[in-house]
Amino acid sequence: MGVVPEQQPAGATHPILASQVAMFKVVESRFLAPDIKRFVIQAPRIARKRQAGQFVILRVNDTGERIPITIADGDADAGTITLIVQGIGKTTKLMNTLEAGDVLANVVGPLGKPSHIERFGTVVVTGGGVGTAIAYPTAVALKQAGNRVLSIVGARTKELLILLDEMRSTSDELFVMTDDGSTGEKGFVTAKLQELIEREKVDHVLAIGPVPMMRAVAAVTRSRAIETIVSLNSIMVDGTGMCGGCRVAVNGKTQFACVDGPEFDAHQVDFEALAHRNAMYLAQEKESNLRFEQRQRHDDGSPCRLDQLAQGVEHD
Ligand code: NAD
Ligand code: FES
Repeated sequence: MGVVPEQQPAGATHPILASQVAMFKVVESRFLAPDIKRFVIQAPRIARKRQAGQFVILRVNDTGERIPITIADGDADAGTITLIVQGIGKTTKLMNTLEAGDVLANVVGPLGKPSHIERFGTVVVTGGGVGTAIAYPTAVALKQAGNRVLSIVGARTKELLILLDEMRSTSDELFVMTDDGSTGEKGFVTAKLQELIEREKVDHVLAIGPVPMMRAVAAVTRSRAIETIVSLNSIMVDGTGMCGGCRVAVNGKTQFACVDGPEFDAHQVDFEALAHRNAMYLAQEKESNLRFEQRQRHDDGSPCRLDQLAQGVEHD
């Protein structure tokens, strides 16, 4: 699969051990939208090897959790990869505090199977919210393979739309949808998809975004038997097929999103099981997020209320 250890030291052969001593410097960082930040990270070997659809697993610091992030772009000559991170939980919010010059503890990748690219004919690339960052490299690869690319980008509101210029430059036509109608057309991405498949013959659909969106896209294309691919954002730990954390049900069989995916045939995915698994640790995620936010607020150094409660310390 080609997991690439960065700056492997003499004697270190295990990719994860090797990557722990590497330096993954943040070269650029800027917010694209509220809570959505774009990072350019120094990771030369990953930049050389990565293909559309693949991801990395990173840790912000030595004690942090491992989070999977799809590689949105890369520059092999500059030795950098681009990651786009939505700050929704503790670790992604911590990541989004990093600025140029900061360093990530480790980054392992590229992981997962690359997107299947061929000349399908007319393809519709559908990006929902931050899922657009994941769809973008595959849209580029589909265009380069000679496809006619129609892209639909959707978000709740204007401020949350990302990569519009990039998507426009790789698409024959770009359609913008917002839930509130603040720009583009009002409605979900699925409304535009329905319109397009009624307008013309569509040979292939890629849909990346929240689970309800991918499930809704699959429902639209199923009746016309249009091949549809989704990228699954299941919970991941090791990213190497060992822990089973990312298991998903596809065509009644257990698959591991980290090694068998992350892309799968949308018409075969059990989205209900995926949504259920993704919600399994919501309570813990919420608590961890709350602690993080309280710690951020206590920048004067005083301990946060939750920490005090956890340690049995009470005061008014
Ligand atoms: P969001 O909830 O704002 O939705 C983005 C767009 O998706 C909407 O504007 C709409 O056009 C479409 N959409 C949403 N629900 C729909 C439905 N029921 N039917 C049809 N279309 C629908 O998106 P967000 O806040 O950017 O996304 C957050 C979620 O996306 C998180 O849960 C995150 O885990 C997930 N996500 C998934 C991936 C992936 O690889 N699939 C990647 C990043 C984030
Ligand atoms: Fe552990 Fe996929 S993340 S098996």
